[in-house]
Amino acid sequence: MQFEVWSKTFSDLSVDCIAVGVFEDGKLGTEGAALDRATGGHIKSLIERGDFSGRSGETLLLSEAGLKTTRLVLVGLGAESSYNRKGWRRACAAALTAAGRTRVKSVALAIERPAAKQLDDYYFGLCVAEITGNVLYRTNDLKTGKKPPVPLIELVVAGPVRAAGVAQAKRGLEHGRAAAAATTIQRNLGNLPANICTPSYLADYARGLAKRHRSVKVKVLDLAAIKREKMGCFLAVTQGSAQPPRFIVMDYQGPRAARTAPIVLVGKGITFDTGGISLKDPGAMDEMKFDMMGAASVIAAISFLAETKLPLRVVGLVPTCENMPDGLAIKPGDIVTSASGQTVEILNTDAEGRLILCDALHYARRFDPSIVVDMATLTGACVIALGAHHSGVMGNDEALVSDLVAAGVRTDDRAWQLPLTEEYAEQLKTNFADMANIGGREGGAITAGAFLGKFTQGLKWAHLDIAGTAYQGGAHKGATGRPMPLLTDFLVKRADAG
Ligand code: BES
Ligand code: MN
Ligand code: ZN
Repeated sequence: MQFEVWSKTFSDLSVDCIAVGVFEDGKLGTEGAALDRATGGHIKSLIERGDFSGRSGETLLLSEAGLKTTRLVLVGLGAESSYNRKGWRRACAAALTAAGRTRVKSVALAIERPAAKQLDDYYFGLCVAEITGNVLYRTNDLKTGKKPPVPLIELVVAGPVRAAGVAQAKRGLEHGRAAAAATTIQRNLGNLPANICTPSYLADYARGLAKRHRSVKVKVLDLAAIKREKMGCFLAVTQGSAQPPRFIVMDYQGPRAARTAPIVLVGKGITFDTGGISLKDPGAMDEMKFDMMGAASVIAAISFLAETKLPLRVVGLVPTCENMPDGLAIKPGDIVTSASGQTVEILNTDAEGRLILCDALHYARRFDPSIVVDMATLTGACVIALGAHHSGVMGNDEALVSDLVAAGVRTDDRAWQLPLTEEYAEQLKTNFADMANIGGREGGAITAGAFLGKFTQGLKWAHLDIAGTAYQGGAHKGATGRPMPLLTDFLVKRADAG
């Protein structure tokens, strides 16, 4: 996929297709008006005839003989008074979708841009690449029948960008292209079934990254090595599974970042979560193949870093195993010792994510990290609290949490802070061990965070609960690509801050 920007005029671009916007009242944007003149008023007459209303997201494909470009896509922008970044996003996606149904290979986007304070040149470029990636993404299904034809688009030329903004827009496009490629990796890993995407599969995938990029080193701990690390909580979760566990350590060293304190990213890699002996309801249990989206996000983030060569050091940690019921599986009431030495009473075997994460968070200490961010499809309670619109975010460092929230705002991949105050940890008290692995139904997303907080004291740490955002059920079941926009933007801004 290739991206370019256009600055002064688009009507003489050598592209197969040009997309222009039309507002609901039939008013053409600046670019639409120019194109209308170039076509001798053809677009206006179409609107006057009532063939196109300009409703947000509506599209109409025209074969325009009078121009060098053989196709035009009209795309509705809705009411001009309420036109904003969201409307622009929707219009770009609709236009690219319409163009993708044809056999065109190159598309110019000439859709009215929202106000610069809503979308500056950098984020304009970033968004164009992200939207294109999402429109062109096809689920890696295993259907054997004839597949519908895939779009042939290989070049998107986006504008208008003033001459002074071209460098920023190009930087945005470059970051967006790498983020889109990483998001495709993340979604593909998520969509794979658990009989294919096993812990060993994730480990092999990470090793492949190290083969492709000299900046990435990968080490994989097997069961014996995990035992040597005394990761008693992680071992407890995996002990009921026939699939061997893996603990994946990825180390990205960007240019000029050799001796800096690393950012450590930790991702929950439960390749299938049955609940264990505390077995889940069968309804939608298949969706628990997505319980490794945190892991997929961390692996994909390392790929993004290697492609963009950001001047950072980032260590990715992925504890990965299955959570299965079995004769050897952990039972409610079992007590295990974490790598940190703290003991945990496992009152519910379905609260397994925090058990594998706590040993990974402890492992992070050896890197003397500047910050630690974990991401996990951790709690159903987070889905109840925030739905599919916001990821949950909490932590012990306000600056870090607000940086994550801000990255989500900039990329429309939003996260909402939950109050991780000391009271919640009290719900984890038990008579029999240092803590229980559950804190009751109330505030369940936060008590999960409080559990992790017991393993991150002295670290600057934040936790993203992506249970509601990383995938969707229903007719469009599949990985959404979140929180990749938030995560990649967060990393770019850390690199910019130096
Ligand atoms: N992977 C689930 C969380 C989850 C639930 C993600 C629904 C996406 C959708 C996690 O391992 C889990 O089962 N959590 C339990 C915790 C409870 C036992 C304290 C939950 O949320 O029900
Ligand atoms: Mn579970
Ligand atoms: Zn889980």
